[in-house]
Amino acid sequence: MSPWKSPQDLLVAEVENDVRARMYANLSAVYDVAFDRVLQGGRRRAVETMGDTAGQRILEVGVGTGLNLSPYQPDTDGTGIDYSSEMLDRAEARVAREGLRSRFV
Ligand SMILES: C[S@@+](CC[C@H](N)C(=O)[O-])C[C@H]1O[C@@H](n2cnc3c(N)ncnc32)[C@H](O)[C@@H]1O
Repeated sequence: MSPWKSPQDLLVAEVENDVRARMYANLSAVYDVAFDRVLQGGRRRAVETMGDTAGQRILEVGVGTGLNLSPYQPDTDGTGIDYSSEMLDRAEARVAREGLRSRFV
């Protein structure tokens, strides 16, 4: 089987991404209230698995509102990507509020 996606598959993926991005845009205002505590165990385990991140560069894919950024050591150099600009706006506000060292794309 070819590892390459057909144009139709790519179109479907693009539409699905767009739908999900809009869903997260709508969720962004209530995301922290709804998903902070519920997903906190998994976030902690992920960061623990990475070990000492001091001085390291981290790429956080699907960074959302940045709830996963605080557990990193303060001098971790984080870059967050997300397809929802609404989620990224909130992540940027968190970084400013908490004095974290991260940037977003
Ligand atoms: C369940 S939230 C998790 C957010 C954050 N990591 C956390 O721990 O709270 C998933 C995030 O990933 C983003 N996302 C999902 N699929 C993505 C993709 N293919 N490219 C970019 N961002 C994506 C969504 O917009 C959303 O902000």
